[in-house]
Amino acid sequence: MKYPDELIDEIRSRNDIVDIVGQFVSLKRSGSNYTGLCPFHNEKTPSFSVSPSKQMCHCFGCGAGGNVITFIMKYQNYTFPEALKYLADRAGINLPEAEFTEEEKKRRSRKETLYNINLKAAAYFCWCLQNREGEEGLKYLKGRGLSDETIKRFGLGFSPISRSNLFDYLKKQGFSTELIRESGLVTYEETKGFNDKFWNRVMFPIADEHNKVIAFGGRVMSDAKPKYLNSPETEIFDKSRTIYGLNIARSSRRDFFILCEGYMDVISQHQAGFDNAVASLGTAFTSGHASILKRLKKPIYLAYDSDGAGVTAALRAIKILRETDMVCRVISLKPYKDPDEFIKAEGAEAYEKRIKEAENGFFFEVRILYESKNINDPDEKTAFVKEVCAKLASMSDEVERENYMASFADRYMIPVETVKREVSAIAARNGGEYGIAERPKSSLARAKDPDAGIKKIQRTLLTWISEEPKIYTAVKDIISPADFTDRVYFAVATRLFADVEAGVMNPAAIVSMFEEEADQAMVAEIFNTELERIESQDERRKALSDMITAIKRNSLETMDAKENQSMDEMMRILEERKKLEKLKNIKFTI
Ligand code: GTP
Ligand code: MN
Repeated sequence: MKYPDELIDEIRSRNDIVDIVGQFVSLKRSGSNYTGLCPFHNEKTPSFSVSPSKQMCHCFGCGAGGNVITFIMKYQNYTFPEALKYLADRAGINLPEAEFTEEEKKRRSRKETLYNINLKAAAYFCWCLQNREGEEGLKYLKGRGLSDETIKRFGLGFSPISRSNLFDYLKKQGFSTELIRESGLVTYEETKGFNDKFWNRVMFPIADEHNKVIAFGGRVMSDAKPKYLNSPETEIFDKSRTIYGLNIARSSRRDFFILCEGYMDVISQHQAGFDNAVASLGTAFTSGHASILKRLKKPIYLAYDSDGAGVTAALRAIKILRETDMVCRVISLKPYKDPDEFIKAEGAEAYEKRIKEAENGFFFEVRILYESKNINDPDEKTAFVKEVCAKLASMSDEVERENYMASFADRYMIPVETVKREVSAIAARNGGEYGIAERPKSSLARAKDPDAGIKKIQRTLLTWISEEPKIYTAVKDIISPADFTDRVYFAVATRLFADVEAGVMNPAAIVSMFEEEADQAMVAEIFNTELERIESQDERRKALSDMITAIKRNSLETMDAKENQSMDEMMRILEERKKLEKLKNIKFTI
């Protein structure tokens, strides 16, 4: 999707980054910048910096950063067009219909077609369920206690015993064989030709947040294996970002979500009046799922199976939710296996009561740990207390940590001083910081970079130029963008130098040249390097001269190291070497 650059510029400049970030992060003025606690990792001391003059933000702790659009994309988990829409709305700017390139048009129409194929298939399965070929299926669903209304609401269907009825039907509807295959609803084998994938199963359509059918799950009606068969991932179906039932649950009036494991669990909870139930489709709950739910700003109640596998899955989900900074509680279903069985046996009122009694996620973890130890053995008891204290030390919020320490000590009858002492000892080992143990593994976590030293120098120069454009005038005969050996640095230098020549300075626009989140963060880092305040002219000249020398030397070494140099390249190396020699005697006028 392509919007004109001027429009993007306009939207960006009408949304001040300090205002926007300030809505979500509490910011304090510090010199010419604002600082606050980074919303992208856990920390106790602020390392998130927002620059009003550059209209950029950057975290010195985890490396996240960018301009106002990057921030909204990352914070709200929006795509670029979604973030643009949000910011345009805020500034009262009308976003015109986007212009699409040919390729985008093609991709969109492919996607539209895939949606249509799934929709037609859903209608076909529904029809089958209500007709003679679906008798067995309807009997099965009724036997599991589902009402006609529920069956209709979830669009349940049936795939009959047939070789290729669905394929033939879709062909008749005019879809191309290629896209029907792409939808995953049929399989192809050289010897057998096209066959329907789903065969003699009750069908659960899977919808996305906009109520569009994107895939199916199909359940056998016996004990045969596999119990469930799901559509493969396609251009419109990404398992790790799809939450079953969310299309309905997102408009529930209840102020929390119930997260469970299966299709049947979601459906029977909805039937019992819990229209806020969702599931992550058998595949484990991922941080992708968590960030989708986080946007909806409601706490999560887990209703996972009560068996060993369910407990393990719940512990994993709790960890992911905590890393996403979400509050969660755990509903006990004992002695029943899952929400479906519980509700069938005890009814909605009893379930409501279990929800009220749901256990805090942290204390659920602690209890499971406790139950795994022989607490009468002093060694095991010590290990238990230490493990819990490590968890407590990983809480970065002081009030939260204090409350949990007191509550833990009280529940397990351990002197609160002992807990406090151990927790601060753990923090001391982490350099006095809380919240360390569970730093999210940011996708931006930077591996050790052998070029870190030279890059820092390059960054410093670029930041300096962005703050004092006259520095550029002093060095422009010696330095060129090609001296910046990293791809992103090179692109940034090219654009920055051109901007300075043209008398404009808009670092936030440079961020928008890049699409990848990691690249945008790198641009923000480049422009947010801390400059030492040097007062004397002589020292400033010396600092600049040192920087230029280091950058030139590195660039020369890089060129030199290249194999198979052309004649031109060799000549350039010689010339550059001469320049480097001369550099010793140059006095910069700045
Ligand atoms: P019922 O047994 O009909 O009550 O279904 P359930 O939803 O309670 O199933 P279960 O608790 O066994 O599994 C939870 C979820 O895991 C299901 O809803 C499916 O999404 C997934 N799942 C279970 N078995 C299979 C399988 O054999 N294959 C695949 N792909 N997914 C499965
Ligand atoms: Mn079940």
